[in-house]
Amino acid sequence: MPTLPEVGQNDFERASRLLHARTGIVLGAHKREMAERTLGLRARHVGATTVREFLDHLEKNPESSHWEAFVNAFTINHTAFFREAHHFDILASFAKARGKPFAVWCAASSTGEEPYTIAITLRENLPSPDTGVSILATDIDTHAIERAREGVYSIERVKPVPEAYLRKYFMRGTGQRAGMVRAKPALRDLIQFDVLNLLSPSWPSGQKFDVIFCRNTMIYFDKPTQTRILDRFATMLKPGGLLFAGHSENFTYLTKSFKLQGQTVYEVVK
Ligand SMILES: C[S@@+](CC[C@H](N)C(=O)[O-])C[C@H]1O[C@@H](n2cnc3c(N)ncnc32)[C@H](O)[C@@H]1O
Repeated sequence: MPTLPEVGQNDFERASRLLHARTGIVLGAHKREMAERTLGLRARHVGATTVREFLDHLEKNPESSHWEAFVNAFTINHTAFFREAHHFDILASFAKARGKPFAVWCAASSTGEEPYTIAITLRENLPSPDTGVSILATDIDTHAIERAREGVYSIERVKPVPEAYLRKYFMRGTGQRAGMVRAKPALRDLIQFDVLNLLSPSWPSGQKFDVIFCRNTMIYFDKPTQTRILDRFATMLKPGGLLFAGHSENFTYLTKSFKLQGQTVYEVVK
């Protein structure tokens, strides 16, 4: 293996600025060591002799194909099935009360555990869910979306899924896929997976949602970015629609577009 390209004094700050402008993600100083190694690896992968040369290339070429791997390298994809499980009880009651058509946008869906949990919840709580129920699952990370679309998980990862749902909604792998499960079409067909940057000017158009999930993602953004995204989320919701946030996210003082319902669930103000 060739040695890693040299990382200069200002490379971390510059990479942080580029990442922030592109994705909203703020790279804390405590990530410096990890980030510098990642930058070295990315630079070597594209054949640059220094990290500076690699960053010059990104800065001068906003359309460069190297951006994708650069962004993917800095996303944190931690997620789980039935994470913050009380949210799915709230979703179930809300969906039952509202009825069909019912549309959900899962706006930072990572590797898919969250949208599949939403799909299970809607299948279990809405009548004839093959029509009039839709879930849009998006994330900036192209690898995460690919994995989400496949819907293949280790037995370990599906441990939080109740046994009855596991049998009903997942197929067990055999042969080389032993120890793995795959979401059945009953779940996969409810979900459309797409790559989407929450900072991008183009968001899903022509569709309004009953619910938006954007959990454990805004914590990586600064406050002005959070406010901008929240105000845009508000325009994407139907009257009375809900926004589900992560357990450590508090949007109360950031915008007047939402009011807290409790348990990190916000109702749009219209
Ligand atoms: C920690 S995961 C949260 C996953 C899931 N929402 C949950 O709570 O389990 C954060 C996700 O946000 C995504 N993300 C970060 N910046 C983003 C952006 N600007 N646009 C869309 N997704 C972004 C990352 O790729 C990552 O998959």
